[in-house]
Amino acid sequence: MQQIGIGLAGLGTVGGGVYKHLTKNRILLMERLGLELVVRKIAVRDPSKTRDVPAPPALITRNWRDLVDDPLIQIVVELMGGIETALELVLSAIQKGKIVVTGNKALLAEHGQEIFLAATKYKVPVFFEAAAAGGVPIIKSIREAFIGNHIQSIHGIINGTSNYILTRMAASGMGFKEALAEAQQLGFAEADPSLDVNGWDAAHKAIILASLAYGFWVGTDKIYVEGIEEITADDIRFAGELGYCVKLLAIIKADEKSEIEIRVHPTLIPRSHVLASVNGVFNAVAVRGDVVGETLFYGRGAGQDPTSSAVMSDLAEAAVAIECPRRSYGFTPHGLYGTCKPIDDVVSQYYLRIAVVDKPGVLAQVAGILGEEDIGISSVIQPESQEGESVPLVLMIHYATNTQMQKALGRIARLSSVKRPPRMIRVEMLVAS
Ligand code: NDP
Ligand code: HSE
Repeated sequence: MQQIGIGLAGLGTVGGGVYKHLTKNRILLMERLGLELVVRKIAVRDPSKTRDVPAPPALITRNWRDLVDDPLIQIVVELMGGIETALELVLSAIQKGKIVVTGNKALLAEHGQEIFLAATKYKVPVFFEAAAAGGVPIIKSIREAFIGNHIQSIHGIINGTSNYILTRMAASGMGFKEALAEAQQLGFAEADPSLDVNGWDAAHKAIILASLAYGFWVGTDKIYVEGIEEITADDIRFAGELGYCVKLLAIIKADEKSEIEIRVHPTLIPRSHVLASVNGVFNAVAVRGDVVGETLFYGRGAGQDPTSSAVMSDLAEAAVAIECPRRSYGFTPHGLYGTCKPIDDVVSQYYLRIAVVDKPGVLAQVAGILGEEDIGISSVIQPESQEGESVPLVLMIHYATNTQMQKALGRIARLSSVKRPPRMIRVEMLVAS
């Protein structure tokens, strides 16, 4: 059987999983592909490390260039993480005509344009199924299964760590820090979980999904990103009383003028919507196309096995591409509307929590400012719970732009009866149809 040579850069969580499962499912892959995938070299940083997934020492090298320079390696798999070295490896492999597979969402979000220009120039495909939602096959679905659709919207829970934290806060009433510590203890969160909780891990994935859906590589400066660090157990409880739950949601949509909104932020979504039941470390992505209508993808977005599954699907596609050259190289520019709506112009509904002194006339002052800024209130609750000298005033706001809201919130914050800057969380009125 024809052998396809693979160079694996990285033997950590994902690289180790890929090596393990390529070995375990070797026969299955051979039968299905009619080709044999053979790992010929593995690059690591520290060859002396004891590993959960051991590989024959003869395959190990400390120098990733050995992969790119080996004429028997046709596919280079980048699973090192980081940006600079990964970019150098990917571009060198492309220049040498080697197909690239990567799961590096940060690399693609920051350098996707450059990478796919090189891929097109050298006619070398780059595959990246593992770079968004781990084991959930969302990249291939958007790129291939929905090729005949205008994508109307994508709503995704695409960071498992933050979803675990929010789920635990909702279930137990614990605070953000406690839930994060628990996620770290259980090994869900990274040692440095900052990109998970500040929204940027989800933002990198949203950039990749938006770029595939709308045909131009979206810059990191075009996306609005807010993390979950400021979400309190009280917000989650009040949202629940109003019929919502709080999720870190990636929202990608095109309006009738083909202006694209791309944002990642904590979001109140109706508890009746299917995304509200996506709990723990699970990911889910709802895609609406003009032909297919509403679709939903669900599964594990991280971890050794699910992510390896995605990498293996890319490897199979890459192996076939060696035999049958492709017309597209992983990302095909199209549409090229290219206009991303600034967050200030984005219209949304909102949840507001304002810590106010409990005295007559405060609600009227707040409502007066909102009215003057042309912002409608859809409901108000003033829960019994006490916050020391202040009480929480919770308002649900009708559609308004971010500019309108910021102006109103600035004025509300300056009221002497308001004790802290108001807390605003956007609301997405998801409806399945
Ligand atoms: P790990 O840190 O577990 O593994 C990284 C591997 O790369 C290690 O084996 C390391 O070597 C090797 N490495 C790092 N730098 C170099 C270098 N300069 N030269 C040679 N080898 C190097 O990372 P993960 O496996 O978790 O992640 C890999 C990629 O996959 C990242 O881009 C990540 O974002 C992405 N990803 C990860 C997911 C996950 O669940 N972990 C999910 C989806 C995507 P050594 O072992 O010697 O230190
Ligand atoms: N840290 C990421 C998450 C891993 O929690 O979803 C996969 O990208």
